[in-house]
Amino acid sequence: MPSTLDEPRPVTRRSLLRGIGLGAATVAVAGTGVLGYRVYDSGVLDPGGGPAHEPWHDWRDIPGPRGAVAAAVLAASPHNTQPWTFVVRADAIQMFADPTRTTGSVDPFSRERYVGLGCALENLTIACGPRGLRPDVTLLPDGPSGARVARVGLTPEPARPDPLHDVIDRRHTNRGPYLPDPIAPADLAALAGPFPPGVDLHWVTGPGPTTALGTLLVDAAEALCADEQQSVDNFAWFRASNDEAQAHRDGLVLDGQGLSPFELGAAKLLPATSRAEGDRFWVARTRDVHVATAAAYGVITTTTPDDRGTQLEAGRLLQRVHLHATAAGIALQHMNQVTERIDRETSTGAPATFAPRFAALLPPGATPLLTFRVGRPVRDGRPTPRRSVAMVAS
Ligand SMILES: Cc1cc2nc3c(=O)[nH]c(=O)nc-3n(C[C@H](O)[C@H](O)[C@H](O)COP(=O)(O)O)c2cc1C
Repeated sequence: MPSTLDEPRPVTRRSLLRGIGLGAATVAVAGTGVLGYRVYDSGVLDPGGGPAHEPWHDWRDIPGPRGAVAAAVLAASPHNTQPWTFVVRADAIQMFADPTRTTGSVDPFSRERYVGLGCALENLTIACGPRGLRPDVTLLPDGPSGARVARVGLTPEPARPDPLHDVIDRRHTNRGPYLPDPIAPADLAALAGPFPPGVDLHWVTGPGPTTALGTLLVDAAEALCADEQQSVDNFAWFRASNDEAQAHRDGLVLDGQGLSPFELGAAKLLPATSRAEGDRFWVARTRDVHVATAAAYGVITTTTPDDRGTQLEAGRLLQRVHLHATAAGIALQHMNQVTERIDRETSTGAPATFAPRFAALLPPGATPLLTFRVGRPVRDGRPTPRRSVAMVAS
């Protein structure tokens, strides 16, 4: 929920431009110049607008199986890669992994990709009940290396409301500052619900453990940026301008960085950043905002991290936790740089430096799969681009 600490006023075009020091005269002069183009190109006048954001507005009104897919595409995915396609029929939806939508060396074993597919599958099944459909999920019907990751059989039944369905379009990864309020253990426990077999959720709370994990997250962000290939693969999904975001309808955008309206407006008007500048921005935000204001961390652990079914189930749990958090007014940001470094060290044969440090913070025998921070938000997260149902389903 928006806080008392920050900008409760609605932001209008005029107030935003005034806020960043652009008066009417400047805008008029800039109308034919470079700055005018930058104002137009960066989408500063219409944040959250354009075709790339339409899927956030029309999903509720789409009935039947296509409506369930419209909910699925609003799910979280690594770097907003949206690595999915669907084949939709009246009696079943088939969900496929798109092998071209990867983050390369950031996710060398495609763990996060399958987690993202699990997130979409969870939204899809949640959206069935309100549309009068009972979902019957079979994971990996063609085995772990088949392109088909799930078959969801659909049987008509009376439509029923679902409170998690109601918040699907309010769930956003919130990379902004959180308030210093702690979150009660009972409130954290209420976010999870039942765990799938082989998957667990461990909460990291209290000053000592959160500081230790925060240090590890900053170190991992620095190590990832110092690794040329990981830095390149990370940056490949950054959409620097509104034109790029509208053309690709995926990837990481300034709107998703948790900036205040003033910071966001100014950032959009400045020239697009280089990879080195983007890396420095991320490490600084990790240190000064993300870990500095985390109330607690959640770590999804498993004994079978290489199993594709486990990764899909972990994604379903992750999405469900995020939806419960959204309904409870708790912000969540995925923070997976430590496990990304663990997998990078394994895939390159480098000495394991991050795995033992993370293991020391977790119960014996638990392998970390996913990490996120939670807290009461200073400001709400914003919608990010999405490909439409028509673009991903046949
Ligand atoms: C498996 C997975 C890993 C992710 N890792 C990170 C991460 O390390 N840091 C981060 O800021 N966001 C991470 N995200 C969040 C995505 O970037 C985000 O879901 C995507 O950009 C879409 O934005 P939205 O969640 O606000 O809809 C991750 C999401 C998933 C599903």
